Amino acid sequence: MQVIPTPAQWRQMRLQLLQSQKSIGLVPTMGALHQGHLDLVHQSIEKCDFTIVSIFVNPTQFNNSADFQKYPQSLAEDLDLLKAAGVDAVFVPTVETMYPSPTKLQLNFGSLEQVLEGAFRPGHFNGVGIVVAKLFHMIQPDYAFFGQKDLQQVAVIRRLVEDMSFPLSLQIVPTRREVDGLAMSSRNRRLNPTQRKSALILYQSLQEAKALLLQRYAWEKVKEGAELIFQKNEEVELEYFSLVESDTFEILEDYLPEKKTSICVAAYLEDIRLIDNIPINS
Ligand code: PAJ
Repeated sequence: MQVIPTPAQWRQMRLQLLQSQKSIGLVPTMGALHQGHLDLVHQSIEKCDFTIVSIFVNPTQFNNSADFQKYPQSLAEDLDLLKAAGVDAVFVPTVETMYPSPTKLQLNFGSLEQVLEGAFRPGHFNGVGIVVAKLFHMIQPDYAFFGQKDLQQVAVIRRLVEDMSFPLSLQIVPTRREVDGLAMSSRNRRLNPTQRKSALILYQSLQEAKALLLQRYAWEKVKEGAELIFQKNEEVELEYFSLVESDTFEILEDYLPEKKTSICVAAYLEDIRLIDNIPINS
């Protein structure tokens, strides 16, 4: 497994791969890897001749500097995991490589910026869009793998690929969960044991809401019920619990089976922010 710190070093390899007509899969990550990331990696290894994983904690997508400072990092363990998984290369650029000077670029994803993650994390998708576009330009993959766990990020990247005509195919991988249902997340490492228990409420409330919607309960009532569950648990502070069209993130007032629909949730446990979502009809 090659560890590549600069785009210049990658270009050499990229040229050789092009000449031998090998397909390239990119898995962008911010490290602190878990089984959810590894699912993306395995899918890439299965589909592509060559898999490159990027590890870069991207400062421009953190709207909260404390969240950036506290973001877990474990490069040595990450490299061991990726090597064992059979990854061909890992791109580990520095901040100076990715941002030789502070970027002034502003990407605007329209209505996607105005709801849920876009609304509660101003500037977040601008930073995600910029770094993912940079990675696509630097690596030039044929396939890029993203997780359904960050459903709104998937919607943003779809727009980016279409609007900027990136010649690659997006591959979306289902959310990997712990045995008890908690969506795997690098941020889970920061939960203390009681918070870890309380965090289960995110997935439980999603599952319950989905079941009720499928029994034709009105969304208004279902949402009220979920909000009550959160109010009863003092450790978890609900930020949003919303019904959306899964691709556009149009906010829905009720569930219509003909629309591809998901429920999305975000909540804080102290300063640790967790998100999750559940598809209703796909
Ligand atoms: P990060 O949070 O490290 O996630 C990297 C990829 O792994 C994302 O596509 C994310 O959706 C996916 N992922 C995370 N948890 C998952 C889970 N439990 N199951 C399945 N997939 C999961 O998302 C980012 O980094 C960054 O925003 C990035 C795209 C790398 C840009 O900086």
